[in-house]
Amino acid sequence: MFSSLLTLLPTTTLLLAASAPAVRAQVGAYGQCAGYEYFGETTCVSGYYCSYESDYFSQCVPGTAPPAYSGPVNYWFPFGDSYTTTSFNATYLLPNIHNPIGNPPFPGYTGGGGENYVGYLTEVDNTSVTFAYNYAYGGATINASLVAPYLPTVLSLIDQVNEFFGPVEDGGYASKPASTPWTSENALFSVWIGINDLAGSYYESGNRSAFAEVLLGEYFSLMQELIAAEGPAAQQALQVVLEDFNSRLATHVASFKAANSGVKTWIWDAYTVFTNILADPTAYGFVDATSYGNTGDFWANNFHPGPAAHAIFAKDIATLMAGSLWF
Ligand SMILES: *[C@@H]1O[C@H](CO)[C@@H](O)[C@H](O)[C@H]1NC(C)=O
Ligand SMILES: *[C@@H]1O[C@H](CO)[C@@H](O)[C@H](O)[C@H]1NC(C)=O
Ligand SMILES: *[C@@H]1O[C@H](CO)[C@@H](O)[C@H](O)[C@H]1NC(C)=O
Ligand SMILES: *[C@@H]1O[C@H](CO)[C@@H](O)[C@H](O)[C@H]1NC(C)=O
Repeated sequence: MFSSLLTLLPTTTLLLAASAPAVRAQVGAYGQCAGYEYFGETTCVSGYYCSYESDYFSQCVPGTAPPAYSGPVNYWFPFGDSYTTTSFNATYLLPNIHNPIGNPPFPGYTGGGGENYVGYLTEVDNTSVTFAYNYAYGGATINASLVAPYLPTVLSLIDQVNEFFGPVEDGGYASKPASTPWTSENALFSVWIGINDLAGSYYESGNRSAFAEVLLGEYFSLMQELIAAEGPAAQQALQVVLEDFNSRLATHVASFKAANSGVKTWIWDAYTVFTNILADPTAYGFVDATSYGNTGDFWANNFHPGPAAHAIFAKDIATLMAGSLWF
């Protein structure tokens, strides 16, 4: 008797587990139904709908949900390092009408704190609703085997591009899935990278110019891969980049343009913009060229420009791209 009861127990347990989803609880009045790092129930009880309050908190309120935004959306896929990252997790909440960078809560976690140029360009300087799937990662180099990043977990430009081309469930949107129906006409790709490659290698022996050529060769083969993802139609690219390296960069850009005549390409010269502002900081409203961490400083910390600097970058990029779909 006892032994048969014991064998029955696991079966009973299994049945309970199987029936659990059918009696799944719905969220009651004013309960949380969505928000950053909320993984609970999202369906409200009858007569209530899930109302967005902030990126951190949505709750069930009485009534019927207003129609969801169904107007036109354009897409932006930024790649790069801490100057660009907003700490987007591509397998979590995707860009949406409330938060054009998806997650974390706007303006994301950035190198200098607060908004960076991605935040400004998607919320302030945008001329359309533009969703940014931001693959940039703090500390990134172009190829971790060529210049090791400060931590082995850092995703290089190669890793970022591989993530984009990877499976949807791992955060890859190259296949234009239903969640992210981008087209060659409405997608913009951008890369701002190089500082970590140069900072992590300038002191090495060997011909630095030859090494710059190796880095740029890889950089532009990655650009070519991104362009290939768009298909042969009208294609767009924004390149955002950093003296020997930059003149070589210009040469690579010229051949990239020549090889991709259908690709619209903009170059935003970050080196010149930094140099101009830092040569005459007060003209731009900054205290001086070197202070950091306080209101009125160009720098947020000893490496990253702060939000006031990023606001200028965003305006400058928007001016460069004036008349385009996005900004
Ligand atoms: C990204 O989001 C997923 C949930 O979709 C979570 O499991 C994962 O831990 C997150 N990754 C990071 C690095 O936070
Ligand atoms: C700019 O983006 C924000 C956030 O998505 C959106 O609310 C706003 O309508 C956009 N501006 C234009 C002119 O489309
Ligand atoms: C990265 O650099 C290593 C070392 O030079 C090289 O073997 C590898 O092919 C490079 N990866 C890519 C994707 O270019
Ligand atoms: C260093 O490399 C550059 C670029 O490849 C090349 O033009 C130059 O001749 C090289 N310099 C020396 C001293 O080998």
